[in-house]
Amino acid sequence: MQFKSFMGVLLLAQGFRAAQTVLRFGCSQIVVERLDPLVNPGTNPSPHVHQQNAFNAAIPVSDVSSIANCTTCSFNQDFSNYWTANLYFKARNGTYKRVPQIPNRGNTGEQGGMTVYYTTPYDGKTKVTAFKPDKGFRMLAGNQAQRATGGVTKWNAICFRCYTAPNFGGDNSAPCSDTSVDSVSLPAKACPGGMRTTIRFPTCWDGVNLDSPDHTTHVSYPASGTFESGGACPSTHPVYLPQLMFEVIWDTSSFNDKSIWPTDGSQPFVLSQGDNTGYGQHGDYVFGWKGDALQNAMNAGCFGATCSALTTQAFADANKCAVPNTVPEQVDGWLTSLPGM
Ligand SMILES: *[C@@H]1O[C@H](CO)[C@@H](O)[C@H](O)[C@H]1NC(C)=O
Ligand SMILES: *[C@@H]1O[C@H](CO)[C@@H](O)[C@H](O)[C@H]1NC(C)=O
Repeated sequence: MQFKSFMGVLLLAQGFRAAQTVLRFGCSQIVVERLDPLVNPGTNPSPHVHQQNAFNAAIPVSDVSSIANCTTCSFNQDFSNYWTANLYFKARNGTYKRVPQIPNRGNTGEQGGMTVYYTTPYDGKTKVTAFKPDKGFRMLAGNQAQRATGGVTKWNAICFRCYTAPNFGGDNSAPCSDTSVDSVSLPAKACPGGMRTTIRFPTCWDGVNLDSPDHTTHVSYPASGTFESGGACPSTHPVYLPQLMFEVIWDTSSFNDKSIWPTDGSQPFVLSQGDNTGYGQHGDYVFGWKGDALQNAMNAGCFGATCSALTTQAFADANKCAVPNTVPEQVDGWLTSLPGM
């Protein structure tokens, strides 16, 4: 009970409104390897390392919930795939080590992984279409080739927060900027409590296509403003989606010692696609909820990690869900190069 009321306080502190539906739940990490079924379908290995959940080199365009036999997420009905680039520390001698992930504030039991949010619009009224069941809807947020401000940073799609202490939290609604608590590039200073990446997906859909060649043009961010400011969807993409957001917490604590940082004063972290700016952070999504479960949850006004329209499993059970690693290469320990780079 204490846990639930803590969650309530946490979510309200992040600026959500009472009439909104906000699912916020953990998903353990299932595998860390070079596979990207969205951007490089069928390519094993993919060009850079991702960490993810319920996985194969090619995810068929079909009902993902009917081919997965388990989920590492706390909601039993969620067989979706969520994945992001990994973070590495680059030592002075040029070798790399993967930065581990830790559960988010208020969450316990996950093994690494991420916190996933599905949020309805901030007006508390606009109805959303919770993607399309049974058909394999998928989309991408961010651009792995981005190396400067611009692109999706306009919609706060990629943000980093430098935690001054473990379990640091705080408001989540301020726009990311280099003068805000959330930066748009990798933090330039050591983060004693770890580092958070937030990835926000497009919230408007063309209503027709389940995917597009670049995995982004069938969806859109608001025509003006942001999802948080109540920005309207463009006429080309009139269907309102719930906002999907990932939060990944990187445990940078074993890399805080500035004596192991680059001598030129630059920050030492690099995303798995060779990006030391952070602007190229990206997230991938393949919808995999059972039937209408997500739509029912979005309609039910649920809040946090419990929902009358859904059932939950303990992380002790979720963490038994495993897929074999299919890319035979080392991704942990000190590496002489980033895998695939
Ligand atoms: C799920 O299926 C995979 C592949 O068929 C199998 O290796 C794994 O043991 C199954 N997991 C569970 C929890 O049944
Ligand atoms: C490179 O640097 C790291 C971190 O300082 C150290 O742990 C590792 O042993 C070094 N590797 C080599 C080959 O010197």
